[in-house]
Amino acid sequence: MQYDVVVIGSGPGGYVAAIRCSQLGFKTAIIEKYNAMGGTCLNVGCIPSKALLDSSEHYYNAVHHFEEHGITTGKVKADLSKMIERKGGVVKKMNDGITYLMKKNKIDVKNGFGSFVDKNTIKIAKEDGSEEQITGKNIIIATGSKPTILPFMNYDKTRIITSTEALKLQELPKHLVVIGAGVIGAELGSVYARLGSKVTFVEFADGMIPTMDKTMGKELQKSIKKLGAEFYFNTKVSLIENLGKEVKITAEDKDGKKVEILGDYCLVSIGRRPYVDNLNLEAVGVATERGKVLVNEHTLQTNVPNIYAIGDVVRGAMLAHKAEEEGVFVAETIAGQKPHINYNLIPGVVYTWPEVAAVGKTEEELKAAGVAYKSGSFPFKALGRATASGDVDGLVKVLADKNTDEILGVHIIGARAADMIGEAVTAMEFRASAEDISRISHAHPTYLEAMKEACLAATENRAIHS
Ligand code: FAD
Ligand code: NAI
Repeated sequence: MQYDVVVIGSGPGGYVAAIRCSQLGFKTAIIEKYNAMGGTCLNVGCIPSKALLDSSEHYYNAVHHFEEHGITTGKVKADLSKMIERKGGVVKKMNDGITYLMKKNKIDVKNGFGSFVDKNTIKIAKEDGSEEQITGKNIIIATGSKPTILPFMNYDKTRIITSTEALKLQELPKHLVVIGAGVIGAELGSVYARLGSKVTFVEFADGMIPTMDKTMGKELQKSIKKLGAEFYFNTKVSLIENLGKEVKITAEDKDGKKVEILGDYCLVSIGRRPYVDNLNLEAVGVATERGKVLVNEHTLQTNVPNIYAIGDVVRGAMLAHKAEEEGVFVAETIAGQKPHINYNLIPGVVYTWPEVAAVGKTEEELKAAGVAYKSGSFPFKALGRATASGDVDGLVKVLADKNTDEILGVHIIGARAADMIGEAVTAMEFRASAEDISRISHAHPTYLEAMKEACLAATENRAIHS
């Protein structure tokens, strides 16, 4: 079968690219090695992790916060298997949603493992052992990523696990040791800490979520500490061993002191690597660098002009919405349009409670680049809305150009930060100044008032309520 576009991988990059290709009139096929559509994000990433985050948050609130709201319950119990079953239902519903979208857009779905035969031909190895070959004028590589695991970590999928297994544990860990206090560590560590596990973080850097603005990491650590978690920062893991019913983590702190931690589960969350295994890129000469498919910044073409690559398999943030933007970008590029992605304004969100959300530059990046900037912050505890709900932890920090007042970065930790960051992204797309936002009416009482107040603070230290 001859297609205009063949997409390999049905994650948020691949399936969105396929839909946009079809909208633009291209005959499109999508190849997925698993029977379920939706990739990492839908099956073992964004959606299942948020389902468990929400369930564990309901439980935690029932145990710790209902009483202050005047709600009396009997003994509240967490049923992990029920939570995981519910999570499975959420994922299934959305898998079916993508299958429906493929049908609606007349996209041919091919289940099986895709690999290159030549620059236009893809071989699909199917579960039943059969093979099919299809050709495409254009090919989009959207094969995503897999967890990074180092050999001395002795990953066994039972006690030494990655996020994939942490989303389907059969029992509540007594003591979960989390290696890497980045996004996955923070989110899944929160899930189990809320449900009652002791959680210990072992992190190479000097704080949590180290790639985000330092203020965010410090505030997040305070909140996660309230769940009873412990932290070893500046600590390098050298060995993880499964001792049967226990796991032993051996590490070294920055002074060379040996650290040993015993737990019953160890979650390895030290980043993800692009996944191009067995894709046979060598057959077509597609260039890679440290596993990432190299692409032209202006077109997302590889060095083979009819082959494009998007999402986690290429450079940049490993985020679902970044992959989606690139999916649309490539489809429109193939159609001869001139689309644009503003990579500086891809927001990043950590779905802990409080949530962390950010867009633009961090204070550390502005300092390093020698940019003259000013900063305005506003604490959630000074907000009427936050006081009413009891969600008073957190702050909004706005960084603006010292001379022009243009907003350069917004960093939020607090209730509903994930939704609040949208205002910052929109404002920055329109190159708004801090004063622009501070002169826009914000509904009262809302969490978003903290954004306006932080912009007022950044303008001339004019916050009204602090
Ligand atoms: P993927 O989603 O990885 O999809 C690639 C697909 O290609 C897979 O289905 C794979 O089976 C298929 N494939 C690979 N090779 C082949 C082949 N040779 N033949 C056929 N099929 C193949 N991002 C967010 O923005 N928000 C979040 O809240 C969030 N939460 C996350 C939570 C966790 C626990 C994890 C692990 C990730 C999370 N992410 C989140 C990241 C997000 O999942 C990824 O950025 C996103 O899935 C990348 O999309 P993609 O299309 O590039 O690749
Ligand atoms: P990450 O890059 O966020 O965090 C990894 C952490 O591990 C870092 O803090 C790093 O310093 C630390 N680390 C690295 N090697 C180490 C070692 N040997 N010992 C101790 N610590 C070590 O990666 P993570 O959390 O695995 O997530 C992978 C990707 O998935 C991220 O890039 C993220 O974008 C994406 N993701 C996004 C989510 C979201 O948008 N809410 C949720 C979960 C994942």
